[in-house]
Amino acid sequence: MAMLGLALAAFILAAKATTLASAASLVTFIFGDSLTEVGNNKYLQYSLARSDYPWYGIDFPGGKATGRFTNGMTVGDRISAKLGIPSPPPFLSLSENDDAFLTGVNYASGGAGILNETGLYFIQRLSFYDQIECFKKTKKSIKAKIGGRAANKLCNEAMYFIGLGSNDYVNNFLQPFLADGQQYSSDEFVELLISTLDKQLSMLYHLGARKVVFHGLGPLGCIPSQRVKSKTGRCLKRVNEYVLEFNSRVKELIATLNQRFPNAKLTFADTKRNTSRKVIFHPVLRPAICVTNTFSLIYTSENTKVESMELRQSL
Ligand SMILES: *[C@@H]1O[C@H](CO)[C@@H](O)[C@H](O)[C@H]1NC(C)=O
Ligand SMILES: *[C@@H]1O[C@H](CO)[C@@H](O)[C@H](O)[C@H]1NC(C)=O
Repeated sequence: MAMLGLALAAFILAAKATTLASAASLVTFIFGDSLTEVGNNKYLQYSLARSDYPWYGIDFPGGKATGRFTNGMTVGDRISAKLGIPSPPPFLSLSENDDAFLTGVNYASGGAGILNETGLYFIQRLSFYDQIECFKKTKKSIKAKIGGRAANKLCNEAMYFIGLGSNDYVNNFLQPFLADGQQYSSDEFVELLISTLDKQLSMLYHLGARKVVFHGLGPLGCIPSQRVKSKTGRCLKRVNEYVLEFNSRVKELIATLNQRFPNAKLTFADTKRNTSRKVIFHPVLRPAICVTNTFSLIYTSENTKVESMELRQSL
């Protein structure tokens, strides 16, 4: 199976019309995994979760592999396009006092998870904690450029998109040879994820994040690496149940955080399937390890349908 840091969850346009109005000046910070990576792992010399192979990027303008785990644009790219802003560059491509820090950064890294140990076998990836560390450095650079007060304002007004958790299941808990799957029951595991996420989102708040969108997980039981585990190639119900539990626990956490931090607005963004279509996979075998799939999802935020799009993503 493809050794890819994957995710089916997605990025969503939770930014509402009000945000769209001021889109031109909107600064976005993106935290995530392979669904939203735009090339950080290319800069990690020993990472095995890489997407700079020729069959990636074939549908991207220019047709070349860019470090995105997809044929074309990531969901994050599409959201940026919708917002009318350029997709922010990968953190690791920037120099210490790059002006790009002022307009948004992408910290996403294929194989990454909420837990430090997730994606261990990819050797190198930026875990969510690592990505938060990178954000700290970003804020330091911004301060050095525009001063503390303006830096705080910029960070308070920016949008923070976060999409993590898929790899904690697919490239950790569901791998029988890794410790977490042996050590924890599914209830204990989700507890661990949520308590860790609580700390991480609180850290981001203390660093200035006020407008945060967390992306729920998609139906991971339906991705090819899980479906091959069933005799008939069907979706794994048990895995989809873990996803539902995780999503519902994140929603609760977000409600708690909104109470704890009244001057912040955290939103949970759901990833829904297009039920008239289901999730459709057209596996196309590419050279070597890569399988490319097409699936169509409907993105919703707070029960409002925002966006529907078709994606082709390596899983
Ligand atoms: C995870 O890594 C971060 C730094 O990258 C560290 O501060 C934290 O203590 C680690 N957490 C655990 C549970 O190992
Ligand atoms: C769902 O899929 C059907 C069948 O392909 C399509 O006609 C419809 O437009 C899709 N709906 C959305 C909201 O994307």
